[in-house]
Amino acid sequence: MNIYATRLESLPEHPKAWLITGVAGFIGTNLLEQLLKLNQRVVGLDNFATGYQRNLDEVRSLVTPDQWAGFTFIEGDIRHLEDCRKACDGVDYVLHQAALGSVPRSINDPVATNATNISGFLNMLIAARDAGVKSFTYAASSSTYGDHPALPKVEDNIGRPLSPYAVTKYVNELYADVFAKTYGFKTIGLRYFNVFGKRQDPNGAYAAVIPKWTAAMLQGDKVYINGDGETSRDFCFVENAVQANLLAATAEDNAKNEVYNVAVGDRTTLNDLFHALQAALAENGKPYLSPPLYRDFRSGDVRHSQADISKAAAKLGYSPECRIMDGIAKAMPWYIESVG
Ligand SMILES: NC(=O)c1ccc[n+]([C@@H]2O[C@H](COP(=O)([O-])OP(=O)(O)OC[C@H]3O[C@@H](n4cnc5c(N)ncnc54)[C@H](O)[C@@H]3O)[C@@H](O)[C@H]2O)c1
Repeated sequence: MNIYATRLESLPEHPKAWLITGVAGFIGTNLLEQLLKLNQRVVGLDNFATGYQRNLDEVRSLVTPDQWAGFTFIEGDIRHLEDCRKACDGVDYVLHQAALGSVPRSINDPVATNATNISGFLNMLIAARDAGVKSFTYAASSSTYGDHPALPKVEDNIGRPLSPYAVTKYVNELYADVFAKTYGFKTIGLRYFNVFGKRQDPNGAYAAVIPKWTAAMLQGDKVYINGDGETSRDFCFVENAVQANLLAATAEDNAKNEVYNVAVGDRTTLNDLFHALQAALAENGKPYLSPPLYRDFRSGDVRHSQADISKAAAKLGYSPECRIMDGIAKAMPWYIESVG
């Protein structure tokens, strides 16, 4: 049995074991679904800035009534310290996911991104510290590697941020480190690399590439590639990110006050991604035959991204079970159902 399976078997039962912030969002609802299926008690906090009630309704339809009864939802805002305190009250494990994602959004409105991602993050640290939680795991980001050219990305070698969003995620890591040094409150940051899967929002100007392209293909719209298509990413199926969160939350003290890459260790170009999505749609009886259209590179985007995941493997026992093609195959029926 691997470390993840063993850890899942030994999860405690507790009336308010877990807090997920951003629980109505993409990664938040995937964490919620997994924890409820493990018969855990979960408190969720969200203000529906980019998350949806329909995501929560979908999770409800996927668990038993008893499991759903283990979930308490608080509609609230991490920019308000009192909401954070209410959510953290009596909780063991915090999985802090709430943030305004998207590099372009942060370029268009850095004030809003800053307020949620930095002030909101600080509120959550204070509330969790004061509530005496057992662990605090937060969503960091591969954008923190910025302009550092080395591949694969190793946690200690970061460059300068390329967007306001990247600044906010780096500041999270700085605050987390300072909270360990000054208050002895040790956290774990998970630097996600392009997570994808069911319930990732395909709509709007700030949608991520996989749901955006899949929706465009299903609707017969044009697919635009920013740049020459040789930009590359380490696409990480959401089940891997869920595994990393549960391992981090239940990790020993010596794994804390660290950040870890969460990805697969692969690198896929946008051109290859386009063809992979085309092939997966064809397999599902939804062929898309048009070629992609190329346009300018997008400001703030990192050119290449690929994670070295050996630190998470060694210190957390992280072992991603799904590579990009398996993840696309698993996610495609959801996109067809919800978009098609
Ligand atoms: N998806 C990725 O590839 C990726 C990559 C790197 C980092 N991240 C980080 O992972 C986390 C989750 O991202 P996601 O992809 O699930 O995005 P998402 O937008 O689907 O989820 C974020 C959730 O946070 C909520 N939220 C936003 N502002 C809030 C506030 N002020 N108070 C309470 N709730 C608020 C939103 O309503 C939403 O439900 C974020 O911190 C994001 O920055 C994601």
